[in-house]
Amino acid sequence: MPKSRLTRRRLLAAAAPLAAAPLVGRFALDEGAGAAGVRHAGHAASGHAAMIGETVPAVGGPHDLDELLYPPPALPYQPGRVREYRLVARDVELEIAPGVFFPAWTYNGTVPGPVIRATEDDLLRVRFLNAGSHPHTIHFHGIHPAGMDGVFEIVGPGEELTYEFPAKPYGMHLYHCHATPLKKHIHKGLYGAFIIDPPEPRPPAQELVMVMNGYDTDGDGSNNFYTVNGRSFYYAKHPIRVSRSQTVRIYLANLTEFDLVNSFHLHADFFRYYPTGSSDRFEYTDTVMQCQGQRGILEIEFSNTGTFMFHAHQSEFAELGWMGYFNVVD
Ligand code: CU
Ligand code: CU
Repeated sequence: MPKSRLTRRRLLAAAAPLAAAPLVGRFALDEGAGAAGVRHAGHAASGHAAMIGETVPAVGGPHDLDELLYPPPALPYQPGRVREYRLVARDVELEIAPGVFFPAWTYNGTVPGPVIRATEDDLLRVRFLNAGSHPHTIHFHGIHPAGMDGVFEIVGPGEELTYEFPAKPYGMHLYHCHATPLKKHIHKGLYGAFIIDPPEPRPPAQELVMVMNGYDTDGDGSNNFYTVNGRSFYYAKHPIRVSRSQTVRIYLANLTEFDLVNSFHLHADFFRYYPTGSSDRFEYTDTVMQCQGQRGILEIEFSNTGTFMFHAHQSEFAELGWMGYFNVVD
């Protein structure tokens, strides 16, 4: 363990100079700007500054990840209705932090893949084309027939397969590739959120999806960066604006490879956590942990307006990219 930690830190510095430099340099600039504009504030000062907004070393503009953050709306219960999705596996080089490129295997070009949503008893039809360089599948969590499980039905490059089954049970689920070696196919990025809505609709809410992951950018079998929805520090650069007057509902899943658990911690407030979102049973807390494949639903009624941090409660993950902010307004 000590060895792997050392390796990770050294590699963060070595493999990501462009990401690491702003972490120090721009903090110093911020702190100095208010005073004499001096940039020699040094490590002690720079390391203690909160990182938020345009100074944050994250890739992209404010709406880049909207499709991953905001799920398609829930539809009313209507047994037998067909819900169609098209997933294409592609090899894509993704910039996950400034100057840091990850040779990803993706569904539809992003990591995580698109949010799949259905209402319980919809007929879910997912047409899958493998345009990547390796054999892949889609394995859905939930209940379905043997031939739809994405374990034995390997889809080679250039091949297609349609998955079709009634969506159940309701809850927050996930999907991922199940070709072997499994560890590789998952850490390369082939996974996404899969929401099944209950027959009795959930109350209206501001709905968000967060998929927690990590990237092993140097191939040593441990992660160098952590994110929600695919880019390090993205929601620190672009805080998520929510209203205090309506419940915030987060569909949270953990697809982090290599590390045994990941976690979500909210500052300055509490939320209800429904494991797997499959019943009314909840825990009232400010921190939840998930093993890979675990997922659940958080419901927050913010008590205060202002800017509030959320992040992995493994401090190391937070410092390597898994942290962001809610901007709560009236
Ligand atoms: Cu695969
Ligand atoms: Cu799984």
